[in-house]
Amino acid sequence: MTTTDFSPDTLNTIGVLGAGTMGHGIAQVFAQSGLTVHLVDNQPAQLDTALKAVDRSLGKFVEKGKLTSEQHSDTLSRLHIHTDIDVLAGCDLVVEAITENEAVKIDLFRKLDALCPAKTLFASNTSAISLTRMAAATSRPDRFMGMHFMNPVPLMQLVELIRALQTSDATFNAIKSLSERLGKTPIEVRDAPGFVSNRILMPMINEAIFTLYEGVAEAEAIDSVMTLGMNHPMGPLKLADLIGLDTCLFIMKVLYDGFKDPKYRPCPLLTQMVDAGYTGRKSGRGFYQYD
Ligand code: NAI
Repeated sequence: MTTTDFSPDTLNTIGVLGAGTMGHGIAQVFAQSGLTVHLVDNQPAQLDTALKAVDRSLGKFVEKGKLTSEQHSDTLSRLHIHTDIDVLAGCDLVVEAITENEAVKIDLFRKLDALCPAKTLFASNTSAISLTRMAAATSRPDRFMGMHFMNPVPLMQLVELIRALQTSDATFNAIKSLSERLGKTPIEVRDAPGFVSNRILMPMINEAIFTLYEGVAEAEAIDSVMTLGMNHPMGPLKLADLIGLDTCLFIMKVLYDGFKDPKYRPCPLLTQMVDAGYTGRKSGRGFYQYD
């Protein structure tokens, strides 16, 4: 295959691996843009929840007049759910959005590498894990990069595109064009712990948790200072609940291990909350309670 084979027009069938907080939103934006999507998760219940969430989100777009009912149903008809990863062998691009755990992700990319033809591009939605290390675990490191969507995916404009050391220009340009086709704004960054987004965001969230831990203020007060005083659309503790406290903790550990700098140490309260299973919105409890 030559580099010219990477035209974004050839990326028509997309695999999304992981149907959690991020995976269902990623699957939705691809399907909304006219692409065929295979969404895979090893937990059937997650797939059911994902389909309901996509349906609900599309319904809101219809209510606001941003989509027609026909576009709503067409989008759903392009989105297929599976528990078996074998279906990904027929995809032009696989975007991985499983749990933020390097060993698990690498194990899965090895399996995918054996399953998918050489032309298939791989992207990871990881928040902080080294793309260079994950790419090196496959036989196609030049066809591997980070495609970091923001939460909630259908509403957020940014896709942070992370080049692994090995990523080819052809791969990068194809994924960049595809991101534009989704109506997103891609921003190029290089592979470093936390990239740009989480290197800046996560220490702020961690500091908000320290502020709560030290009893400086209640959770609502901390969030109000940042929304009313800094014009942030959402306070850091509410945002941590939205992201998932397990994901926040994992990212802080990646920053701490990657830079060996104590300024990135995770707050003990964050560790405790995750140990207790209080992972935020997805578990019904984090710094706030959810239905
Ligand atoms: P999540 O915990 O909501 O969902 C993960 C999904 O992966 C679950 O449905 C789980 O069943 C599935 N899964 C785990 N192992 C699997 C396997 N071996 N095969 C198939 N499915 C498997 O996690 P979330 O929040 O969606 O995060 C996914 C990725 O996106 C992580 O890398 C995270 O760092 C990243 N991310 C998360 C953001 C957020 O706001 N939550 C924002 C941007 C990136």
